[in-house]
Amino acid sequence: MLEYRGYDSAGIFVPGSGAIKAVGPIDNLAKKITATIPGTSGIAHTRWATHGEPTELNAHPHTDASGSLWLVHNGIIENYREIKEKLLSQGITFASQTDTEVLVKLIGTLYKGDLRQAVMDALLRVRGTYGIAVMSQEHPDEIVVAKMGSPIVLGIGHDGNFVASDPSALLAHTKDVVYLDDGEIALVTKDGYSVISIDGEHREKLPEKVEWDIEAVQKQGYEHFMIKEIFEAPEVIANTIRGRLLFDKGRAKLGGLESVINELASLNRLQIVGCGSAYYAGQVGRYLLEEYAGLPTEVELASEYRYKRNLPDKKSAVLAVSQSGETADTLASIRSAKQMGVLTLGIINTVGSTIARDTDAGVHNHAGPEIAVASTKAFISQLTVFVLLTLLIGRERGMSQEVGVEIAEALRTLPETLIKVLTQSEEVKAIAEKYANYSDAIFIGRKFHTPIAHEGSLKLKEVAYIHAEAYAGGELKHGPIAMLDTNFPIIALCPQDDVYEKMISNIEEVKARKAPILAFATEGDVHITELATDVVFMPKVHPIVQPIVTTVYLHLLAYYVGLAKGLNVDRPRNLAKSVTVE
Ligand code: G6P
Repeated sequence: MLEYRGYDSAGIFVPGSGAIKAVGPIDNLAKKITATIPGTSGIAHTRWATHGEPTELNAHPHTDASGSLWLVHNGIIENYREIKEKLLSQGITFASQTDTEVLVKLIGTLYKGDLRQAVMDALLRVRGTYGIAVMSQEHPDEIVVAKMGSPIVLGIGHDGNFVASDPSALLAHTKDVVYLDDGEIALVTKDGYSVISIDGEHREKLPEKVEWDIEAVQKQGYEHFMIKEIFEAPEVIANTIRGRLLFDKGRAKLGGLESVINELASLNRLQIVGCGSAYYAGQVGRYLLEEYAGLPTEVELASEYRYKRNLPDKKSAVLAVSQSGETADTLASIRSAKQMGVLTLGIINTVGSTIARDTDAGVHNHAGPEIAVASTKAFISQLTVFVLLTLLIGRERGMSQEVGVEIAEALRTLPETLIKVLTQSEEVKAIAEKYANYSDAIFIGRKFHTPIAHEGSLKLKEVAYIHAEAYAGGELKHGPIAMLDTNFPIIALCPQDDVYEKMISNIEEVKARKAPILAFATEGDVHITELATDVVFMPKVHPIVQPIVTTVYLHLLAYYVGLAKGLNVDRPRNLAKSVTVE
């Protein structure tokens, strides 16, 4: 079961043996299962609460009025109230507060012996997002799955078939997978599968091979996935740039964008959309594309973009950044851009994901599966793709070959630099232990490092529960400085770039207020040691890749602060890795 997708409660149903549910992590469910459950098929689920608290009654699987049909669901049924009212008027009662129970009760009223037909009939009455798996006691050898907005993947094995919301759950059994598309319903048995559209048309779907191995989704001796994924940085960057640089020409080659290269060269404007860390990666992308490629770029939170009036012209494009390729708001933004007739692009880590398939063209990160809830390796890979994209578009829009060669070289040497960065992990750990005692922090940076300050602060909130904020250095004096005292540290990102002196002025302002200062500076910077309480020295690199280097330090910092506080860094409270609800 994919615990990172939800972990406030879990449940399992096996025909003939009934359902078992427990609140809390999967371990709690495992403890309740004291003997092997007899049976050869079943469905199980980990929940991330939306409708109703994490209780046993609200945990999935849910059942219909007869107790014969059982269902697990990711997503949200938007018109569940309406349907619930109707069902209540028919005398049907509900045990939970969930929208999911409404769906299975509805399927129950339509069931006349053919489960897939009943699911189809019910889904025609439903609005919202879902990835569902349904079983009936009468036909224990069948699982019916359906997808709309939330991922469903089938695993085709030699001694049985599987369904999951992410291929990583299937790797121990098979690498042959079938990704369902929105509006598709599949009937899966031990020996086969068949897929139809919601209106009954047959769909021919052949299995694809998952590229990575089971090791990629295991901890391999690390204490947590988060630290394993941070330590994968050199390899991740090498994988992201592999085969994508033409060193002599100072150019980038991105196969997934070749079909749209002329459009990219003559764009008037690029709008980037994303959520969480992916949004901050987009912010860095904006600075890089404007600075080096001269491309006017905007960045929008996907949850805002989809509801606001956007004013694209024919020569603009919308670019989604998403690790999972399934984030509901990012997907909706791409769909709304498509409706406006705009070119849609993606920087997506998960091959086969909905956004990867919905966009006109795009780039895969090749960062491998990311398991820790808070994004680390995918984020630095997103930044790397933005450097590649800047090179690609920049060279089409007047960037000199000389600058192009410098950027390509900066990327080529980056994995080596990151190996060196990671040797400083013990040093960052010692500093993290010191800063773990504060309850607040403000991160400051300028230009390329403004979004990195935001990323550092987001990570510290996510995995260490420290109240952290981030500001562009110049904004500190316009309000946040009022907060500072000896108990309120500032984390200053001040590599020696073209805004270094401005950052130094900001740090002076902080020092005058006696706040502790933790600086991330360039090695050899003697001035900073006079100003800061603690300094972590970073290797000097080309400014275009500096945000990637700085980020690795901030990810280590957040990880070690979380660790010092004894927190579950891989699965922070209240968070989910793949947010397939709005
Ligand atoms: C969740 C994760 C974040 C991630 C965000 C966007 O909130 O906890 O780490 O940045 O979703 O996810 P995506 O898959 O679209 O990159």
